[in-house]
Amino acid sequence: MNTRVVRIDEQHIDDTLIEEAGRIIREGGLVAFPTETVYGLGGDALNPASSKKIYEAKGRPSDNPLIVHIARMEDLPALVRTVPETAKKLAQAFWPGPLTMIMNKSEAVPRETTGGLDTVAVRMPSHPTAMAFIEAAGGYVAAPSANRSGRPSPTAAGYVVEDLDGRIDMILDGGDVELGLESTIVDLTVEPPMILRPGFVTREALAETLGQVEQDATLFTRDSGQAPKAPGMKYRHYAPKGELTIVRGSAAAVTNYINARLEEERKNNKRTGVIATDETIAEYSADVPRSVGKRKDVNTVARGLYRILREFDDEGVDLIYSESFDGNGVSQAVMNRLLKAAGHRMINV
Ligand code: TXA
Ligand code: MG
Repeated sequence: MNTRVVRIDEQHIDDTLIEEAGRIIREGGLVAFPTETVYGLGGDALNPASSKKIYEAKGRPSDNPLIVHIARMEDLPALVRTVPETAKKLAQAFWPGPLTMIMNKSEAVPRETTGGLDTVAVRMPSHPTAMAFIEAAGGYVAAPSANRSGRPSPTAAGYVVEDLDGRIDMILDGGDVELGLESTIVDLTVEPPMILRPGFVTREALAETLGQVEQDATLFTRDSGQAPKAPGMKYRHYAPKGELTIVRGSAAAVTNYINARLEEERKNNKRTGVIATDETIAEYSADVPRSVGKRKDVNTVARGLYRILREFDDEGVDLIYSESFDGNGVSQAVMNRLLKAAGHRMINV
């Protein structure tokens, strides 16, 4: 299959191209598109054959449910049994934006889209190109992140090309994404609502709207003895080819520990990488030192994380040491993804 890559300027959206992308979806094809979080791989959410194609293109297990993307609040009731009061409040506060809500599904949503579940995940993204595309596609676009299974989510169209060229019909290139980590997922079918994946809509922000909100116990620990609530969270995602270890402690202790490891590993002829920040990058002597962003501004770290994980793969490093990112808010999302990439390998110094 020949994959067409077209550049779309979100300030001046080309209606002809969007119409064409929408038609591909309505006819059962696949189109990758930019959102404010990461690029999505879109298909018609109400067409079981399209969902099957998405799983095939990604190389993803078909028990891992897809998020249904909508562009208008009027389109939500058709997807769910009833619209919960909690969903109305959250939509008011955070849609369009990086929040996905789990609700009980209606008959209209095929089980192929929900990985066999009776619930459906719904999100209204805020990216202008995504919104125009979803409307042109008929209103309901199922989309996982547009990476091959096991690779980091793509934060630029070039990474989608890397992973999916020749496997999908079209890629809408909207340049670099704004946020860089996937949406927050909150399950509204349980009481109190539960966060299944941390993101830019933080636990603190959700609690302001909902009152009480719980967090899935498996998000930050390896051995909680429980299965993750979001089926996708059980797969070993985002893993770089090199072995990644997170080092946690005071700034000085972390730098000293990592530099001692680097020296040791160089003697063993290992090629090393470091994930540091603008504030600390100059202090490391790795073969491939990389700053992920500014520690002072965790949003820049979130935006850079998946890009540098891909760069380490290209550089062929054997071992990667990373600083840790502790704290509330967006740091929780960063640490959750980093822990997954590290297979939960973390050392306290
Ligand atoms: O920001 C995002 O959410 C991006 C963009 C493209 O919108 N999409 C994304 O999709 O990250 P994906 O497929 O990579 O991640 C979806 C996650 C998976 O972990 C999946 O298991 C979970 O959502 N999920 C989907 N439907 C669910 C459901 N009904 N119940 C529990 N978890 C669900
Ligand atoms: Mg994904």
